[in-house]
Parts: sequence; structure tokens; C-alpha cells
Amino acid sequence: KLLMVIDCDAGIDDAQAIMIALSQPHVKILAITCVLGNISSTNQVCLNVLRILKVCGKLGKIPVHRGAEKYILPRHSAFDSTGVHGDDGLGDTPDPNAPDDSHIESKHGVNALIDLVRQHPGQLTLVALGPLTNLALAARLDSEFSKNIKELILMGGNTAGRGNITISAEFNFYADPEAAQIVLNDFDCPVYINGWELSIKSAIEWTWYKQYLETKTRKAEFLKIITRKRIHDYEFKLESFIFQSKDLFLNYGWNVPDAVAMMVAIDRRAILEMEQRHATVELNGTYSRGQMVVDWADHLPNRKISTIVTKIDMGILMAMMSKSIE
Ligand code: BDR
Ligand code: CA
Repeated sequence: KLLMVIDCDAGIDDAQAIMIALSQPHVKILAITCVLGNISSTNQVCLNVLRILKVCGKLGKIPVHRGAEKYILPRHSAFDSTGVHGDDGLGDTPDPNAPDDSHIESKHGVNALIDLVRQHPGQLTLVALGPLTNLALAARLDSEFSKNIKELILMGGNTAGRGNITISAEFNFYADPEAAQIVLNDFDCPVYINGWELSIKSAIEWTWYKQYLETKTRKAEFLKIITRKRIHDYEFKLESFIFQSKDLFLNYGWNVPDAVAMMVAIDRRAILEMEQRHATVELNGTYSRGQMVVDWADHLPNRKISTIVTKIDMGILMAMMSKSIE
């Protein structure tokens, strides 16, 4: 069994990633810890995860913990990704029968991470799909934390300076750059980085995705409901002249960054190309705060080496997505 803990800010693509993990018989998810990110309410992230678990018949079987409710440093203005994921983080199509917050564990998410890693030293695959606040706090509270993680697979950062939230930064790293830097500079476990350019390259072909959503199962119906608004916006942008970089957008297809990271966590054979480099995060910079910076030519001595995934097997990704809605 692959013992997994997921830290997320669910999130539409987080939902897809969690559904992939739930559908793999050899994956045992010990807990899901939640962090702010796509939406600024960590409680709502937990509710979203509970809703996903219920759709997949796993409500009550996997503990869900509320983690950090603020980033390490305060932000000067409201910051989230509701423009992509909706005000509730799951496309603004609430389910009146969704589970309420009485299903959320009382233990804080950061303590849950620390305890789980202590209970299973060297055995846990940690998959981080949101800002890295919970992981950084866990490492600050327990200096042995990262040493005892088997491997960390994360979605975040960018290799070629292409941002999605600023001109140069990817959302998860930009949300909490200090946390991302703590993880990349200090963590003592193998770290796999699945960044923004990788997910652009791995976008799902549009016609395939639309057919996929038409699959007649409860899980596919759920994905269709939570992606409805996003798809509508996407098609509107494709058709309208207000979208300036149309050529770029047309190449995107349906972007599933967190699902890409989850696939890498589950099947390492899915990595077709990678780089092993030290990567860190810019904390200052007028235009570049939150941008991942890769030491391509070993300028910095004795730094932690991460695996930066640069190409994946699309067949494996699509097969996992298909299985996740059966
Ligand atoms: C990341 O940001 C979030 O909007 C997605 O869920 C993904 O984790 C992509 O930059
Ligand atoms: Ca996410």
C-alpha cells in the first residue's frame, strides 16, 4: 500500500486529484489536511473536501483536518483564486445535502501532519496541492518532520518564469512564498516539483475532456457540476475579443495542475522527463515575489536538490482521470 496524506486548498483541480487518489486501490489516504488558498476560508476548504469524499462514498472514512487560516506573513489585500474556482472554491454550485462542519476533526491540520509523520516515519507520501503554509509550520514546530517524510510531491512554482497569478509567479508559491521557501530550502526528504509550465504542457485536450464529463456516473456528474462555470468562462473567453493572448489560451486545453502532481505521486513511471536541481523562491522583487528560481548551473553550494518534473505520460494521466469517475 502507498500511504498518503493530502494537503490541499480544494479547489476544482484539487477535487480531481483527490478523486484520482481515492480510485486507486493500492493508495491508502490516512488524512486530508486543509489550507487556505483558492478561497480564503480554510473551513470552506474542509467542507469542499467532505463533499468530495461523500460523492466518492468515503465520508467518515478519511479524517479531514482544518489547517492554517492565515499565511505566514500578512497580505496587504484580499488574495484568492475565486475567479477560477468560484466563491466557494467548487464552482458555486452548492449541494444542500453536503456534509456540515461537524465532520471536521478537532485536531489542527498542522498537528495532524506532525503526528502522522511521527507515527509512520519514512513511510508517508505527502501530496501538497495548495499553498505550503501547513507544511512549513509543521517543519518549524517539529525539526524532525521533513526528515521522516518518505517523499513530498507538490504542485507549485514555475520553471520558465511564466506566472498565472502575477507575471512571474505561480499561485501556490505566490500565496505563501515564505512557506514555499522553507519547504524548498530546508526539507530533508525527496521533493518532486510539478510546476505551472508542466501543467500547461499537460493540458487535457478539450474535446476529450468534454466527452469525459458526459460519462454517466455520479462522480462524473459531480465534476461536470463543479466545472460548469469555469467551462462557460473559458468558452466565453475563446469566443470574445477581449481575451488578448488567444493563441496561448487555445493551446491550454483543460488544465489540471493538481491532478498532474497526484499522478506523479501515484506512479513514478509517469515521469518522462525531469531535472534534478536546487530550486528556491524569490521573496522580494518588484515583479518577481513568489517566483520559483532554479539553480540551473549549480551556482549555490550545498543546496537541497529537488526533482523538477518537466514532461509526463499523458496516457497515464487520462487513464487515471477515467478511473476516478467510474
Ligand atoms: C494551483 O493553484 C490553484 O488554483 C490550483 O488548485 C493549483 O493548485 C495552480 O497554480
Ligand atoms: Ca490546489
